[in-house]
Amino acid sequence: MPLVRTERLTKSFGALVAVDAVTFAVDEGSLHSVIGPNGAGKTTLFNLLTGQLAPTSGRIVFDGRDIAGTPPHGIARLGIARSFQRTSIFPTLSILDNVWLAAFARQRSWRGLAWRRADRYSEVAERAMAVLGEVGLEEKAGEPAGAISHGEQRQLELAIGLAAAPRLLLLDEPAAGLSPEETKRMVTLVSKLKGRYTIILIEHKIDVVMSMSDRISVMHFGSLIAEGAPAEIQRSPEVRRAYLGGFAAP
Ligand SMILES: Nc1ncnc2c1ncn2[C@@H]1O[C@H](COP(=O)(O)OP(=O)(O)O)[C@@H](O)[C@H]1O
Ligand SMILES: [Mg+2]
Repeated sequence: MPLVRTERLTKSFGALVAVDAVTFAVDEGSLHSVIGPNGAGKTTLFNLLTGQLAPTSGRIVFDGRDIAGTPPHGIARLGIARSFQRTSIFPTLSILDNVWLAAFARQRSWRGLAWRRADRYSEVAERAMAVLGEVGLEEKAGEPAGAISHGEQRQLELAIGLAAAPRLLLLDEPAAGLSPEETKRMVTLVSKLKGRYTIILIEHKIDVVMSMSDRISVMHFGSLIAEGAPAEIQRSPEVRRAYLGGFAAP
């Protein structure tokens, strides 16, 4: 059962068709990767899914309803979260406070805050702590967010995404710019989230994609050129020609 699917989703920038009639579906609870060379349209696809961009044409169906054209705050409210954008981390606030704010901001409604009971706040704090546990930052909860390493910053960005208790999590190159050791930690982290969240992952490190994904969609010049389980993708001559280059099947 797909949680989200697109139907001939298209985004043009003038003459350039960045996302070209993309039809794909992501099953609830699965980790679905999107791969393809630079400029293939992967991030634009995410921008459409999160409402940052309105599609030129086509549909996005999330949980049975057409959400194409819904603005970002509406999309966030539906339970679609994105990580690894330039997220708003407040460097002087503690890690916990950063996550707390994200959890608090994504509550159903701001209305009635004045009379809301204090236990609502502790509920949010519990959620924030649980999320820090999920990303392995609970021991650093009290440290200022500006004082942590680059890899930990990424973990925090992930925590901020998770704080909203998303139904769909979009990860755009979570390991980009990380050291090999930090990459390993991030891969472990994402593997742990697998199955508990529905995840769409954009990632260049092909070994990571092959080992973690339930399904892989391959984009090339805006179009989907292949989709399948990792082994199928690895075998596909078209994919290898377009993207994988020297990547050898075992
Ligand atoms: N806001 C924009 N305006 C104009 N062109 C854009 C915009 N965003 C992306 N593009 C173009 O769309 C194409 C796909 O970009 P992108 O989705 O970022 O690819 P990827 O994430 O796969 O590297 C590229 O040619 C890029 O230059
Ligand atoms: Mg990109």
